[in-house]
Amino acid sequence: MSDEKSQSLYDRALSVLAGGVNSSVRATRPYPVFVERGDGGHVIDADGDRYIDYVMGYGPLLLGHDMPEQVRAGVQQHASEGPMYGVPTEVEVELAEFVARHVESVEMLRFVNSGTEATVSAVRLARAATGRDKIVVMQGGYHGAQESTLVEGDGTDTTPSSPGIPDSFAEHTVTLPFNDAEAARELFVDSGDEVAAVLTEPILANNGIVHPVDGYLQTLRELCDDSGALLVFDEVITGFRVGGLRCAQGKFGVEPDLTTFAKIVGGGFPVGAVGGPADLIEMFTPAGEVFQSGTFSGHPVTMAAGLETLRYAAENDVHDHVNALGEQLPSGLTDIAADQAPEYTVVGTDSMFKLVFTREAGNARESREGHCEAGCRQRAECPRYGACPKTGADVSAAETDRWVRLFRTQMREEGVLLPANQFESQFVCHAHTEEDIERTLEAYKTAL
Ligand SMILES: Cc1ncc(COP(=O)(O)O)c(C=O)c1O
Repeated sequence: MSDEKSQSLYDRALSVLAGGVNSSVRATRPYPVFVERGDGGHVIDADGDRYIDYVMGYGPLLLGHDMPEQVRAGVQQHASEGPMYGVPTEVEVELAEFVARHVESVEMLRFVNSGTEATVSAVRLARAATGRDKIVVMQGGYHGAQESTLVEGDGTDTTPSSPGIPDSFAEHTVTLPFNDAEAARELFVDSGDEVAAVLTEPILANNGIVHPVDGYLQTLRELCDDSGALLVFDEVITGFRVGGLRCAQGKFGVEPDLTTFAKIVGGGFPVGAVGGPADLIEMFTPAGEVFQSGTFSGHPVTMAAGLETLRYAAENDVHDHVNALGEQLPSGLTDIAADQAPEYTVVGTDSMFKLVFTREAGNARESREGHCEAGCRQRAECPRYGACPKTGADVSAAETDRWVRLFRTQMREEGVLLPANQFESQFVCHAHTEEDIERTLEAYKTAL
């Protein structure tokens, strides 16, 4: 494996791009691998080395790197007819209709250009709808590069997590540990009437993966109902992946007031969206008064890619295929971890998975009876229940350096490309094969 070209490209990039990249997570140490092209479930790097890819663009590529004919045709048609107009097109209506038909809580949408823009707009809408300022987020959760949610600290004792954000933003943001229903109840007893929205991923997919404990999302729903706050599910990652076309809210049977989408809904092109009932979404300008606008919003090429990707998924049992592989992989990993690293926790659901390098095994060393078999489900009867991660902090407390510095590198040498760090989900796509899964499991065996 030679990295000559990647190194030389990074050398050039460091002269013209901050940190040599356009998104901080890409700056893997000592230098990022530059990709030349994708091929199904694989990528080929600038030096010609091929990898089984589980980065998958950090989530958008449900179908993998090759566009099926209908997606390619939609993208090419809209790109060649004139990429965008600044006036409405039919395809944005069609994609909105598709989403509203499949996601129970969504009647209307506003498309934007990124997950960040979607969460910014949802927070503004929630504040306007409730006349309140406080936003509750989960500790360690990520909702994009926006002022209101880039915070660190506990409860009301929060500060901005980046220079350049005035303290006054953090003053309006409260953090809770995910999965701690008691902490949520206490917060709502103290100041529930000041909360505009609870903003959370239904599963922590950007910091984990952490599955909700039984009843946790329902508790958040009830607290929001009782206090008049909005429940906002950030389904930027989970949307159209977990729970198939119904999204994670359909899988868990909890309806949020607003949902933020991105990634898969744009079929690999820049996108975001806020969805919900008409009375809330129509608060956005020009129907209402909450300002929201964007030159590229509802871009025809993106809309066509998203629409044809979701249609293809609906017509070709894509979720059945990716979920079957997504079960085979963690269940194989569970056996490997039991033999080679019983303290580590296999997490994930549907087509996302991860092996978190947790430091304790609960009593799993003595007994594997009743163990979650294909990704932690936070079952109280599981012998690992006391040791599996329940919050973002639990994932951070795992062996994050060992994961990055030794394990990720070793996996690359075995021909498997993993995300930059331990927190980001790994994704199975429709183009992955059983052979890919078997080779991946062999790579884990060698690397662990
Ligand atoms: C849960 C979640 N919300 C929001 C975002 C921000 O999305 P974007 O990077 O498209 O701005 C991300 C990005 O990964 C995310 O994982």
